[in-house]
Amino acid sequence: MMTFPLDLIHFLKKAARVAVLTGAGVSQESGLRTFRDAQAGLWAQYRPEDLATPTAFARDPKLVWDWYAYRREAAKSAHPNAGHFALVEMEKLIPELTLITQNVDGLHRMAGSKNILELHGNILNVRCSECGTFAETWEDDPESVPRCKKCGGLLRPDVVWFEETLPRDQLEAAVHATRTCQIFFSIGTSGVVHPAAALAHAAKAEGAVVVEVNAEPTPLTPRVDYAFHGKSGEILPELVKSVWGNENRFFSDESFK
Ligand code: OAD
Ligand code: ZN
Repeated sequence: MMTFPLDLIHFLKKAARVAVLTGAGVSQESGLRTFRDAQAGLWAQYRPEDLATPTAFARDPKLVWDWYAYRREAAKSAHPNAGHFALVEMEKLIPELTLITQNVDGLHRMAGSKNILELHGNILNVRCSECGTFAETWEDDPESVPRCKKCGGLLRPDVVWFEETLPRDQLEAAVHATRTCQIFFSIGTSGVVHPAAALAHAAKAEGAVVVEVNAEPTPLTPRVDYAFHGKSGEILPELVKSVWGNENRFFSDESFK
């Protein structure tokens, strides 16, 4: 059993508003590759930064479509892990928890989290690159990128690419949650992609206690109040257990007085 600082445990127990930012690291234990890990097989020769851009799509739409199709299949067959489920528990135990995610895999929703802001979209959805029409179904064709039923434009994943702006409503809601929370968690994210990375700094500037849970130290680490390095699927369930797991511990404490 991990031990957590007592002041953090007490603070979490009393917290009314908590904001959580997650990144690809929380899905690593579900078997999904993080963004900055080496890619597998066929895709090893490309950098994600060279595939997830409008420029890449304009240059070679089929290449980008196929990369997303590959990742979509991986996301579809993945299951949420203990870290996702611990965040579902936390949402039930804390009066107001906002889960801000950079992940496009939909695993937080699948796990059962409700108050989610998907800053980078969802890989399971597509939209037209020309007219923006959302599409839930399309006909896959091994030779070419599927086209919009309305205007004939190429379909693309409904995610945010490098060089693109984040959905305004989601970003505004994320900033609001960040500035009004008492505790801010940064979990499984390398903290290098803005504006998501700036949220932790904003939380700190507004006086929130900032907690990092990540496999390794990040550029954010020196700025946080508490850093726990290890797997989120192990640390988060332990944290939930330490804070809320044995509520009756206080009764037994009393009886020893
Ligand atoms: P990264 O791949 O940059 O970072 C993942 C972080 O998770 C790394 O710091 C790992 O050390 C850590 N990690 C790995 N396994 C972990 C585990 N089991 N438990 C905890 N931490 C673990 O992914 P993101 O920070 O999510 O944006 O990347 C942010 C954005 O950059 C992505 O959403 C994507 C990319 O550009 C877009 O596509 C727009
Ligand atoms: Zn269209």
